[in-house]
Amino acid sequence: MAVWWGLSRLWETCTFRVRYVLGEALFPFGTEQVKLGAMTNKTWLFSSFFNSLVVFSASSWQMSVPPVLRNRTRVLKEARVRAIVRPGVLDITKDKLMVAHGLLALACARHTQNSVPITSMAKPISIEVYNPNGKYRVVSTKSMPGTRWINLLIEQDCRVEICTQKKTILSVEDIIALIGDKCDGVIGQLTEDWGETLFAALSRAGGKAFSNMAVGYNNVDVNAANKHGVAVGNTPGVLTETTAELAASLSLAAARRIVEADQFMRAGLYDGWLPHLFVGNLLKGQTVGVIGAGRIGSAYARMMTTSYGEFLKANGEQPVTWKRAASMDEVLREADVISLHPILDKTTYHLINKESLATMKKEAILVNCSRGPVVDEVALVEHLKQNPMFRVGLDVFEDEPYMKPGLADMKNAVVVPHIASASKWTREGMATLAALNVLGKIKGYPVWGDPNRVAPFLNENAPPPAASPSIVNAKALGLPVSKL
Ligand SMILES: NC(=O)c1ccc[n+]([C@@H]2O[C@H](COP(=O)([O-])OP(=O)(O)OC[C@H]3O[C@@H](n4cnc5c(N)ncnc54)[C@H](O)[C@@H]3O)[C@@H](O)[C@H]2O)c1
Repeated sequence: MAVWWGLSRLWETCTFRVRYVLGEALFPFGTEQVKLGAMTNKTWLFSSFFNSLVVFSASSWQMSVPPVLRNRTRVLKEARVRAIVRPGVLDITKDKLMVAHGLLALACARHTQNSVPITSMAKPISIEVYNPNGKYRVVSTKSMPGTRWINLLIEQDCRVEICTQKKTILSVEDIIALIGDKCDGVIGQLTEDWGETLFAALSRAGGKAFSNMAVGYNNVDVNAANKHGVAVGNTPGVLTETTAELAASLSLAAARRIVEADQFMRAGLYDGWLPHLFVGNLLKGQTVGVIGAGRIGSAYARMMTTSYGEFLKANGEQPVTWKRAASMDEVLREADVISLHPILDKTTYHLINKESLATMKKEAILVNCSRGPVVDEVALVEHLKQNPMFRVGLDVFEDEPYMKPGLADMKNAVVVPHIASASKWTREGMATLAALNVLGKIKGYPVWGDPNRVAPFLNENAPPPAASPSIVNAKALGLPVSKL
């Protein structure tokens, strides 16, 4: 313990000194500093007498541990750390420092036995550039489907930079590095944390536009964007039908136990028809409930009732009726299938919890294609365990990309990885709307009057209207509205 803290302090001293005089050979005990030819000219490699190596680069630094050391301590299991080094400043948070302490202490212990180096490498953020001489610099944090969105930006004198880093979720530090010193607009993703730090960085770089490639923007702090005068775009309408179709698919898949049956078949367990084999729920004549009957919720209701109802009527059967419930409790009590489509905000966080689950029918089906935190997933797992005839179809999860413990083992759950909007037409359309949101603000266009009527932007055979299709903080920023 004493050695640990002693080393911690030593590392802290080294770190702070590096913070002030980046690039100097500061390490005591004969530490050497090596310039790495293969890396950028601002990449430095420090090696201590512990035989540990840490690489600092101008854009980012990363420490990784060889497998031989990986299982030694809990700290080391989490030892992939990243931080941004801007000129003259080494920005290391407390957590990262803790990991560094762990690495250093362990490296020391190893050194006395068998000098095993801690390997490390610097990874600058990789990008793909289109129209390098474009006047406006637009960054997309991810590659997006289709090419129309790129072409629309290029045609309007934008230099388009697409992050190609092989990392599913970019950190705030990664995005700061992407924004750099000059950036006019960013297209980002719902997995990213767009708060004060990023809007401040974008604003410092001269940027006035950001668009989520999503209709939901619970990952965006709109107040922070307002403070920095950044317009925030989203992509409504284009994903309504696709998302509703997935909700309908999950409803049917859960009702008829399709995933369980598929797994059973593939496992070679089917040895003949049986009266009890995968008996599920018949949806005909049942009550469908929608919580959050906006664009997507209404489209889901139409798919589950009207078209089905027309079919029933044509066959001489009872038409489907509908009503607006007086309370959520009424929906929970009466419906056999409930699909969740509200936005995620503080009024809908854990809207479905232990109590609401207990209110639902024991054999009900619950579908969530909205956002994970709308459901208390721990309570849901418990409910699924206690009620094997209760079924769920989930597209979204509370702590994506993870599932809460126990959910993966539940046979009465159908789970898919957030693919509700994943049809080619929709994803290409989302990319187009997001790009046009950013472009519109850069070019000083007004905001489109009705974000529910975005079809003119999606017509590939005509140029899009000169407007931003959907800016959620247009009013707060006092942006003009299109008369078109
Ligand atoms: N899983 C996916 O890939 C995916 C795809 C698209 C959209 N979504 C999610 O679906 C949400 C809805 O999208 P939309 O286009 O239909 O939005 P929308 O704004 O048209 O509909 C949202 C509805 O939620 C209702 N609502 C708000 N607070 C509520 C509350 N406390 N209780 C009940 N209802 C409440 C609103 O009145 C509105 O009718 C998005 O915000 C997004 O988070 C998820």
